[in-house]
Amino acid sequence: MSVVLLTGLVMAACGGGDDPPELSPAGEEGRQIAADNSCGACHGNNGQGASGPAWIGLLGSERELTDGTVLTADRDYIVRSILNPSSEVVGGFVIRMPENTLTDDEARLVATYIEELAG
Ligand code: HEC
Repeated sequence: MSVVLLTGLVMAACGGGDDPPELSPAGEEGRQIAADNSCGACHGNNGQGASGPAWIGLLGSERELTDGTVLTADRDYIVRSILNPSSEVVGGFVIRMPENTLTDDEARLVATYIEELAG
């Protein structure tokens, strides 16, 4: 196996160590909004998940809702999940996501942050 490939695998496995991923200005704003609104209490301070689902890898993944619907988590789904936490509930979690006071713009910025955690 080539050194370049090996280094790439190690970096992918570690997600670059403890360093947060490189974020665009909008992604960074979204990260800050999530931190200010204590989203990390359930989703992990770096989106790694805790009592709530992980944000890392959420974009593009398949979600099964409590009503049996299966969908792919795209940007619209992520924004909807933030603005209306009780409308599309993912199965398998003991707790429910509480309502929040994010505006549409803030929810979109957080969605951008979550998208940038996709890799
Ligand atoms: C008290 C814990 C808690 C807090 C605080 C919380 N969430 Fe959640 N969140 C959850 C749980 C549990 C789910 C999965 C069940 C559901 O869909 O409601 C979820 C689901 C989500 C989803 C959909 C994820 C998926 O896997 O499909 C997004 C996006 C999300 N939350 C964003 C946020 C944002 C942004 C905040 C801060 C404003 C936040 N959450 C605060 C518990 C929480």
